[in-house]
Amino acid sequence: MTALVHTRAELQPFLEGFANRKRGVVMTMGALHEGHLELFKRARHDCDLVVVTIFVNPLQFGPNEDFDRYPRTLDDDLKLCAEAGVDVVYAPAVEEVYPGGQPIVRVTPGAMGEVLEGEFRPGFFTGVLTIVNKLLNLTDPDVAFFGQKDAQQLALVRRMVLDLNMPIEIVSVPTVRDEDGLAKSSRNRYLSPEERTTALALSRALFAGQEKATEGADAVRDAATAVLKAAVATGRLDLDYLALVDPRDFSEAPPTFSGETVLAVAARVGTTRLIDNLPLTLTTHGAR
Ligand code: PAJ
Repeated sequence: MTALVHTRAELQPFLEGFANRKRGVVMTMGALHEGHLELFKRARHDCDLVVVTIFVNPLQFGPNEDFDRYPRTLDDDLKLCAEAGVDVVYAPAVEEVYPGGQPIVRVTPGAMGEVLEGEFRPGFFTGVLTIVNKLLNLTDPDVAFFGQKDAQQLALVRRMVLDLNMPIEIVSVPTVRDEDGLAKSSRNRYLSPEERTTALALSRALFAGQEKATEGADAVRDAATAVLKAAVATGRLDLDYLALVDPRDFSEAPPTFSGETVLAVAARVGTTRLIDNLPLTLTTHGAR
C-alpha cells in the first residue's frame, strides 16, 4: 500500500520511522510514466523508505509555458506508485512549498544554467534548483534519484549538492524510451499521432550522432544535424538547439575533445516542446 500525504506534518511519522535507515526520494511533477517508474524501482532497490513527491512547480514555468495545461493525473499516479512499491507519496499544496508566497531567496545555477535549456527557458533552472532544494529540506533523504532524460537538470543538481555541501547522494537513472526510440515524457501526451512520428527525429538524430562517436565531435554533430535538418525541412519541427557538451559544465565540446560528452537536443513539434539527450564517449581526437 502506498500512503498519500499532503502535508509535511503527515510525512513526519514516515521519516521518523526510518530515522536510522536509508531514505530515498524521487521528485516528480506527476503525469507519471515508465520513465518515472524506473526511478521508483531503483529507489525501491536501494532504499528502505521510498518517498515520491508530486508537485507541479509554478516557479519553473515561464509565463507562456504549459503550467495550466500540464497533465494532473493523481489517481493514475498513485496506482503506478503502488505498482512500484513506493511507500509514501507526498503531494503538497503550493502554500506549504511556498509559505512566503513568491520566494525572495532562490538558488541560482550560474553560467551552467544559462546555456541550452537555460537559454530557451530563462529562469527555468533557478525554479528547478529552488524546488529541488526545498523538497530535499522537506523530505530529508539520504539519496535522491534523477533521470538522465533531463541531463542538464541532473548535472546542476549534482553541482548544487556539491557546491552547497548538502549531504545527499544523487543517483542517476538512464532514459527510458518507447520501442521506436522516443524518450518517455509527460509531455508526449500532448502529441497527435502525426506529431509523435515527427518527434522521432530527436532520438533518431541522437542515435545517428552516436554512430560517429569514434570519429570526433564534429562528425557527431554533423550526423545528428543532418537528421534534424530533414525534419525541419518538412515544416513540422522547429529546432531550438543541438549541442554536444561536456557534462561537467555543459560547455560545447571542442573538435579535439575525447571522453564523456552529452549530445542534447530540444525542438518544438506543434505546440509541444521536447528534449532528449544521449551520453556519448568520444574516443578519437577529431581526426577526419
Ligand atoms: P518530471 O519531468 O516529472 O521528472 C521527474 C524525474 O523523472 C526527473 O528526474 C526526470 O529526469 C525523470 N524522468 C522523466 N522522464 C524520464 C525518462 N524517460 N527516463 C528516465 N527518467 C525520466 O524533472 C522534473 O519533473 C522536475 O523538474 C522536478 C525535478 C520534479 C522539479 O520540479
